[in-house]
Amino acid sequence: MKEYCMNDGRKIPAVGLGTFRVQPSDCERTVASALRDGYRLVDTANVYLNERAVGRGIAASGIAREEIVVTSKIWPTEYHKKARAAIDATLSRLGLDYLDVLLLHQPFGDVESAWAALEEAVEAGKVKTIGVSNFNEADLKRLLSHCKVKPALDQVECHPYFQQRELRAFLKQHGILLESWYPLGSGDSGLLGEPSVVRLAEKYAKTPVQIVLKWHVEEGFVVIPGTKDPAHAHENRDLFDFTLSEEEMDSLRALDRGTRFFTMKRGIQRYAVFFQRMNYDRQP
Ligand SMILES: NC(=O)c1ccc[n+]([C@@H]2O[C@H](COP(=O)([O-])OP(=O)(O)OC[C@H]3O[C@@H](n4cnc5c(N)ncnc54)[C@H](OP(=O)(O)O)[C@@H]3O)[C@@H](O)[C@H]2O)c1
Repeated sequence: MKEYCMNDGRKIPAVGLGTFRVQPSDCERTVASALRDGYRLVDTANVYLNERAVGRGIAASGIAREEIVVTSKIWPTEYHKKARAAIDATLSRLGLDYLDVLLLHQPFGDVESAWAALEEAVEAGKVKTIGVSNFNEADLKRLLSHCKVKPALDQVECHPYFQQRELRAFLKQHGILLESWYPLGSGDSGLLGEPSVVRLAEKYAKTPVQIVLKWHVEEGFVVIPGTKDPAHAHENRDLFDFTLSEEEMDSLRALDRGTRFFTMKRGIQRYAVFFQRMNYDRQP
């Protein structure tokens, strides 16, 4: 597995397992099986309501804790005065005494005090690496103006239809890694059926999913495809026995339309519940 070095000197695998919308009943099994299958990065969030199942999957895998990079995120409803308690609650749900990566999930609300709580958690040894998610350049500039510890990662929507070109330049300048969410456009059949994707899949005897994921890795992104299916998880990390040429990468770069699958408007309509304070402990 390819690894990247983050700006705090710690390492992170190029490919991890995403768990958004993976129900606790599937999550425990998929996490355990993916870790046994070689995954060493798992991504969850308090708002996914599956941290307990992720923790059980980690325990059931039998893989040594120190070999696994566990990422979680804190939702903005917890930023103001509640961030310290939210970090402890996330650790308790996962059944872990430290997190490898903790992110602020969104750039809304009391980011300044939530970031200070993350910095404190690093000092206290509760978290190793801190970063952000869904922060654009302006959000990052604001954070960089008051932070003591620079974010190591920005987890954002990214895929061949939305390649984040401007943000990437800014992240590179500041040594912040891009981590792609919706790397498969949430499994979009249009993206996976693009002739350039299908042609490369045929050429390398890979699936369109593997071609798109390889594009992320070759671009230098951490990628966390989400799945409830252990066979899909296996396929999604089997990317390291072929290489895309610069010309082939260019044919995928040409798919950029600058369009997201997830707009805030659509997101708010579909996931309105995430914008209220939830009882994160109500999960099996
Ligand atoms: N920070 C944020 O705001 C944010 C937002 C969204 C997501 N995320 C993170 O990013 C991760 C990835 O995003 P995502 O899961 O929403 O979208 P995604 O990875 O682009 O797509 C997931 C979809 O693709 C399907 N899939 C995965 N592997 C497949 C394969 N090999 N063959 C066929 N279908 C496959 C999955 O179905 P099956 O289950 O059937 O495989 C699922 O429906 C999330 O799981 C989460 O950890 C973060």
